[in-house]
Amino acid sequence: MAEGFKTDFPCETVKEGKVKAVVPKLDAFVKQPSDYAPSKAPVFYNPVMELNRDIAVLAFQTHQRIVKREISICEPLTSSGIRGIRFAAEIHRVKKVVISDISERAVKLAKYNVRLNGLQDRITVQHKDASCLLSCHSAPRKRFDVVDVDPFGSPVPYLDSAIRALRNNGLLTVTATDLAPLCGVHSKACVRKYGGKPLRTEYCHELAVRLLAGCIATVAAKHDIGIRVVFSHSTDHYIRVYARISYGAKKADVAVKNLAYILHCFNCLHRETAKKPFAKRIEKCPECGSKMDYSGPLWLERIFDKRFCELMAQENTRIAFKNSGKITKLLALAKDEAEAPATYYVIDKISAKLALPMPSVSNMLQNLRHKGFQAFPTHFNSRGIRTAAPALTVQKLLQKLVAAA
Ligand SMILES: C[S@@+](CC[C@H](N)C(=O)[O-])C[C@H]1O[C@@H](n2cnc3c(N)ncnc32)[C@H](O)[C@@H]1O
Ligand SMILES: [Zn+2]
Repeated sequence: MAEGFKTDFPCETVKEGKVKAVVPKLDAFVKQPSDYAPSKAPVFYNPVMELNRDIAVLAFQTHQRIVKREISICEPLTSSGIRGIRFAAEIHRVKKVVISDISERAVKLAKYNVRLNGLQDRITVQHKDASCLLSCHSAPRKRFDVVDVDPFGSPVPYLDSAIRALRNNGLLTVTATDLAPLCGVHSKACVRKYGGKPLRTEYCHELAVRLLAGCIATVAAKHDIGIRVVFSHSTDHYIRVYARISYGAKKADVAVKNLAYILHCFNCLHRETAKKPFAKRIEKCPECGSKMDYSGPLWLERIFDKRFCELMAQENTRIAFKNSGKITKLLALAKDEAEAPATYYVIDKISAKLALPMPSVSNMLQNLRHKGFQAFPTHFNSRGIRTAAPALTVQKLLQKLVAAA
């Protein structure tokens, strides 16, 4: 336990990035094997999210380099404060960070952690409801350059106030851990919360990112604000979307035009995009004639920006994180995925459907390219292939490769 600080629950000091923080001692909160320690502790802390925080440091530093000025950051659901403290300690030219939490215990711990790192001059700790804090920062001179919304479950309740608290060309980052709705296990909840229908396909995590981005675009458009997604990832139990916002009704119109649908055939795995879900032409699969299902409305524009990924990769080589190797791989995949078509095939799914052994991803990629199709691996699934090749072409190729093996 850290000297000079007392909590009524077991704590320990951890190091992450360039900072140290007092956090709940998670082992002490596991009473039975099924207990999820981070949410059993009186103040939330999840060491698994270190990668999420590392990537945020890289993205915000990249944003600072693009806007070329000192930046301000708000983290309105901060818990122990570790995330916001890392932003202040690790990102160059951060003028202020505002962190806040609704829990009194969290605020007490966050305040201590700020002092522990000697960052009182740059970090303000508040004890406020997130929407309330963000709304207090919606006036022109009070807005932030970056808002990082990292809640339990869905970020939707905070989107409106987070967008209003951002200055023009600001960066909004949100985590969503409610993958059951977003990936189509609880479809109705997804329609209710995100305004789009999910689909339980093999590429449901990409659909989840697109549904969340679509929801951000819709909320932003209500304020005459447009968005552009510069980065996103699906890791462990969560997805993250990084969206740059731009003021202007025309920008909002352009963003809203990027909302559309993905149609999917569960029989032959064919998929295509459509502006409307129920046009007669698309009810039947053009490949096999089966009835198609759909997901959306969702964000059909890019979910990674190639240049943004490259700049993040440069920052990653400059800063040595524990997770740098993992991040290098993630950014390399995302950079290639940036300009590739929406959706991906999962080889194991096709093999299972055809009752055939599974060829390697690299073999499939090579052969698709040889046939003249763009083909890329995807960070969403290590057995996935992003290609515009029709489903039946991919299936025939797989059969051929297995037969030749
Ligand atoms: C997932 S944790 C945040 C983790 C933190 N961002 C990190 O990286 O370690 C979510 C936090 O939101 C806080 N919270 C829940 N509802 C809130 C609200 N309406 N306003 C502010 N904080 C809230 C909880 O007390 C909890 O500490
Ligand atoms: Zn079909």
